[in-house]
Amino acid sequence: MPYNEIGDRMIVNGNEILIKAKMGKYAIPHFNINNLEWTRFILEECQEAKSPVILGVSEGAIKYMGGYKVVADLVKDLVKSLNITIPVVLHLDHGSSVEVAHNAIEAGFTSVMIDASKYDLATNIAMTKEVVKMAHEKNVSVEAEVGHIGGNEDGTSSSVAYAEVEDCTKFVSETNIDSFAPALGSVHGIYKGEPKLDFERMQKIANLTNLPLVLHGGSGIPDDMIKKAIQCGICKLNINTDLQIVWSNAVREFLKVDDAYDPRKIIKSGEASMKKTIRDKIDLLGSGNKI
Ligand code: 13P
Repeated sequence: MPYNEIGDRMIVNGNEILIKAKMGKYAIPHFNINNLEWTRFILEECQEAKSPVILGVSEGAIKYMGGYKVVADLVKDLVKSLNITIPVVLHLDHGSSVEVAHNAIEAGFTSVMIDASKYDLATNIAMTKEVVKMAHEKNVSVEAEVGHIGGNEDGTSSSVAYAEVEDCTKFVSETNIDSFAPALGSVHGIYKGEPKLDFERMQKIANLTNLPLVLHGGSGIPDDMIKKAIQCGICKLNINTDLQIVWSNAVREFLKVDDAYDPRKIIKSGEASMKKTIRDKIDLLGSGNKI
């Protein structure tokens, strides 16, 4: 059970749980948070299932919620007041610059992703090294990406990318990152057709880098593919869209039969379906009872 030096429960860095997941051949769920309620639903269900959890926060969500410190305080306060005892990681998702990573670290995030994958490899390496230096001084773990993972969210980019194996080994040996997200054929958002994951490449990169691998765009991938990915080295699955879909569908159904206007009632109407999906993901990833 994670406690800090004064006996308070605390959030931990990614290494605490990802190294165990890698050894045990299961994966940790990364759920993106968007507001207080989502954070509470996720924490409560993961506590119930005794699953470690990574709360991913994008730059957009940080802005939406009122800033880095608001997010960090919210998560820490909820962990305390809900009596959460599972390991919880507060993670910056797709940090786009060294400055953004710095802000998250200063606010108390325990894990950051620096995503400089849109730049050339040398620039990606240089930016990542800078973040690693800064983060490791504060015991914050670092995830980084090679080969840009596209997205279908806005309908503009549906290009599927695959990281070059040589780029991955060079990147990992030069940066000293803690977990690694190479492009392996997944995309963010809703898939158009079957995802085309390259398992051979996944296994090769896992063997050569010996790091916990991260699969972005974890929504909408068939269960058997997720299971195979875990066998090939995936230790962290990023999930956002699946929760958004089940929550919004439930809210839409609720408002068809109820003319509620209290925002608490409306937001809460998606709680049960969200929690069910969270539990299904935990069962699929094998992260339950792993504390
Ligand atoms: P999805 O929205 O496709 O689940 O992707 C989430 C993600 O990868 C966040 O980094």
